[in-house]
Amino acid sequence: MSSDAVTMEKIVSLARRRGFVFPSSEIYGGLGSSYDYGHYGVLMKENVKARWLEAMVRERDDIVALDSSIILHPRVWEASGHVTGFTDPLVDCRFCKLRFRADQLGEAQCGAKPSKHPGETESCDLTEPRHFNLMFSTRIGAVEETGLDTYLRPETAQGIFVNFKNVAQIARRKPPFGIAQIGKGFRNEITPGNFIFRTLEFEMMEMEFFVPPAEAEDWYRYWIEERMQWYLRFGIRESHLRVRAHEADELSHYSSATSDIEYLFPMGWSELEGIANRGDYDLSAHTEASGTKLEWVDSEMGERYTPHVVEPAAGVNRSLLAFMVDAYDEEVVAERPRTVLRLHPEIAPVKVAVLPLIPRNAEIAGRARALYEELRRAVIAEYDDSGQIGRRYRRQDEIGTPFALTIDEQTLEDDTITIRDRDSLAQERIPISGARAVVLDKLAQDWRTPKPG
Ligand code: GAP
Repeated sequence: MSSDAVTMEKIVSLARRRGFVFPSSEIYGGLGSSYDYGHYGVLMKENVKARWLEAMVRERDDIVALDSSIILHPRVWEASGHVTGFTDPLVDCRFCKLRFRADQLGEAQCGAKPSKHPGETESCDLTEPRHFNLMFSTRIGAVEETGLDTYLRPETAQGIFVNFKNVAQIARRKPPFGIAQIGKGFRNEITPGNFIFRTLEFEMMEMEFFVPPAEAEDWYRYWIEERMQWYLRFGIRESHLRVRAHEADELSHYSSATSDIEYLFPMGWSELEGIANRGDYDLSAHTEASGTKLEWVDSEMGERYTPHVVEPAAGVNRSLLAFMVDAYDEEVVAERPRTVLRLHPEIAPVKVAVLPLIPRNAEIAGRARALYEELRRAVIAEYDDSGQIGRRYRRQDEIGTPFALTIDEQTLEDDTITIRDRDSLAQERIPISGARAVVLDKLAQDWRTPKPG
């Protein structure tokens, strides 16, 4: 099955059935564009973030980490241009009372006649477009009169810019260097979300790379390539990734050039990550508004300049969705349908399952439990002794567990167990004493998806 035949409904259904993602506030009827992450969703999201942090920080000498506040001083958002510029043009229909993005009417459904687009029926009565700010407002302080109005951050980037001086001085960094941050962002999105693709709150993985102005263009190209390689490294098919440069009228208020890495989602090519050349927009804006000079000064070399910024900004939730879509596969095995998530082992939420074939046999259960205890010290492992073995395999296939170990009666005779490969379904017998080493070795091997491009 190709991912082109993977529908969003199938992904939503699997995500829910296996406890990756639930609709938020469901017992109250749900809340649009909000989702909660269950056990496997949390584990998988942690893997996505860990792989990003490794690639950005652990494997490099030129990037340091930061965790800034979600609630910043309101002047940050004035200076950054978000108060005036972070808006969507919206129209309201006076007839059906729905609200639409003025620039996306062709993709929206009329509230009264869903087969038509807004504005296409006689009863449609659309207002002129109005600019609607996407930031969520909030208020600091218990007392109404002395409180301070501010916003939940719509991007983590500004927390990095306002810390530029701290990091440059204290971490003693010289451009080119970067600051990486993972954290939640909040946007009052009104366009329908396509599951977790677009939500009101989401996690971002952003890195601001500060460079000498003359090097900005080269670093922009470099980061587009680096980020493409990251998705390929963790198993996304090349045929389902592309780079698309923004047209001038699409550029954000801060950007002089942006390219999106797009993935072929079930609803079509859509943004996975944006790589922007932000120039000196942010550091200059905060210098002017705060009076604190955010520049690079090298007194020994007599050098002083405002660095330019190249920013790869990715979504954790969107990446998770792309990994799921790309991994989703269905096939028929021994005349029975099998659904499997062919996830890269480093992205898969559970790495190995331990399955006692006959759980009521105390000796088998004891050996299985001991093996599980040994494995869980090294990796996320799961012990499953409920139901028929076939069902247990299917459960692990659906959450993308790369390997399953089965302990059976033969184990009691010759101390061997079966290791089953999720993708090939090949099974081999290995000594139980070396099982941990075998699993760790297999998990560390290069992995390519068996799915056709
Ligand atoms: N600082 C740059 C910035 O915020 P962006 O393209 O608006 O850039 C970066 O956001 C990434 O965050 C996007 O590529 C996408 O993966 C993710 N993202 C943005 N809005 C989102 C939303 N409403 N829901 C889920 N992910 C979102």
